[in-house]
Amino acid sequence: MCGIVGFAAGENVTDDIFAGLLSLEYRGYDSAGIAVIRDGRIECEKVTGRVSKLKEAAKGLFGKVGIGHTRWATHGAATKANAHPHLSYDGRFALVHNGIIENSTELKNELAGLGIEFKSETDSEVIVQLIAKNYLGDPVKALDAAVRRLTGSFAVALICTDFPTSVFAAKKGSPLIAGVGKASAMLASDILALSPHADKICRLEDGELLEMRKNGFGFYKEGKPIEKEFEEIKMKNIKTDKGQFEHFMLKEIFDQPEVAKSIIEKRIKNDEVVFPELDPEIFSDIKHISIIACGSAYNAGIAGKYILKELMRLPVTVSLASEYRYATPLPLEGTLTVFISQSGETADTIAAAERVRFLRGRSVSIVNVKDSTLTRLSDYTLYTEAGPEVAVATTKGYTAQVMTLCLLGIWAKRNERSVLFEATEAIKSIPEIMLRLLGTKDKAEELAKRIRKETSVYFIGRNIDYAVALEASLKLKEISYIHSEAYAAGELKHGSIALIEEGTKVFALSLIPELTDKTISSIREVKTRGACVFAVCREEDGATAEVSDEVIPLPVVHPIVGAVCEVIPFQLLAYFTAKYRGADIDKPRNLAKSVTVE
Ligand code: G6P
Repeated sequence: MCGIVGFAAGENVTDDIFAGLLSLEYRGYDSAGIAVIRDGRIECEKVTGRVSKLKEAAKGLFGKVGIGHTRWATHGAATKANAHPHLSYDGRFALVHNGIIENSTELKNELAGLGIEFKSETDSEVIVQLIAKNYLGDPVKALDAAVRRLTGSFAVALICTDFPTSVFAAKKGSPLIAGVGKASAMLASDILALSPHADKICRLEDGELLEMRKNGFGFYKEGKPIEKEFEEIKMKNIKTDKGQFEHFMLKEIFDQPEVAKSIIEKRIKNDEVVFPELDPEIFSDIKHISIIACGSAYNAGIAGKYILKELMRLPVTVSLASEYRYATPLPLEGTLTVFISQSGETADTIAAAERVRFLRGRSVSIVNVKDSTLTRLSDYTLYTEAGPEVAVATTKGYTAQVMTLCLLGIWAKRNERSVLFEATEAIKSIPEIMLRLLGTKDKAEELAKRIRKETSVYFIGRNIDYAVALEASLKLKEISYIHSEAYAAGELKHGSIALIEEGTKVFALSLIPELTDKTISSIREVKTRGACVFAVCREEDGATAEVSDEVIPLPVVHPIVGAVCEVIPFQLLAYFTAKYRGADIDKPRNLAKSVTVE
């Protein structure tokens, strides 16, 4: 999974490609490269590591058309040879690819049998070699013939020395957007790379190809030219900066009260929850809510499940998109499927949405990035309004997702006044509670120092506390690289308690008054086996404090507020632990913000 960029202009495009790649780095950051055409020849520079290293490496490149790539390795390690662009055996073509070619081994063997020598271990290189082999003077035809032989997903951009003013592209399954500005034409995996230059954009659909020159586009499908409309760009010059914060993650943690305020402003009018984008009758014949997502969005779904079940008294299931997409399809009558995705581009979630669509299921997407692919696959889209999130580990994106799910549940019950008042008031208190929880920063930092040398940490909780424990654990492991697991507190004794030994650090989450005694029993079980327990509990909960080694006291809150806000001390804990371990907080190893491959 990677980011691709292409430019055609009247002047050198290297800097624009470089800037575009920087904005796509969230899609992968293990190597990068740029290729341009100069004096009828392809010039190409690649680096391993971050895009920023390309600045120096590519400073000698000059070309009026070019392509660039930032990589998240799927086939072959993060080496210079495996970095894109890949060149064809005859030096005529250079290509960048986002996606996965599933039949690459077969194609590689076939091409190797014809004497074509491969320079990389990637699946992508087969595409450029196939194109070169098919080429009879028309790059669109050669590209078309090549992509017809591919199975899997791709967005590719291609340059050809015989056409030094054009960039060619094709798409199936991976995003690709074309843009037109005053002095250039461009394409990229994401609007972020186009927004500084483009006035209008046009999204390619699967099966479409294009040829782009500085002053024009030709689109093709099934071998024939087609017309496509460009639309005004809605997100112009999306700017992101860290402000006074050392990392984007810390900034985004501290953004949360403001995000919550803007969600409230948008969703609560005269004390009533509003979702004008939804059909008012959408829940009328719904008997089951099926939430589908990946990663933290899945954890948000679990947190939302407890609230939705309580509010709506309906069965709510939560599935990992990667599992859902290959599970036996069941009829979706009476089911409302809710997809959750910060980026709206996660490949597994998109595949699940395609499946629900195919099965004619009714769907709502909860998405942060405007106009992303998922928004076009579901019947309704609810934007989370969290603003651009740069750190790979989501924070404000996650809390905005949980908040939106809770609001959806309240809206569904908008005719039941009693439920409504208390829940709506709870939502309104979220920004204030978030501010208070950000005040746990020093305590979180102190605990981070205490766990920074651990090899394994555990999180336990019940009900909503368990959902938050899942996200707390994921946050810690993804940025600090400490192994951590979350367990439903009552389940720990069925096997995992075998891992507890003298000094093992266990975080116990316990905000729910009715379950306090039960969680205390779980705390005692691990303490008896030598664990050191840090509890997050209500400030009035002396009993939990008594059995724990340390306590982060939190205010007494409504379950909705707990579901949204309880994660904040753990976001801070993960942040400081990663910081004390010297980890790359905003760009953790092996991860990417948006996983656009399977
Ligand atoms: C990646 C990110 C996670 C994210 C997940 C789902 O794995 O590293 O932080 O939760 O994708 O992303 P989405 O954009 O669908 O919410």
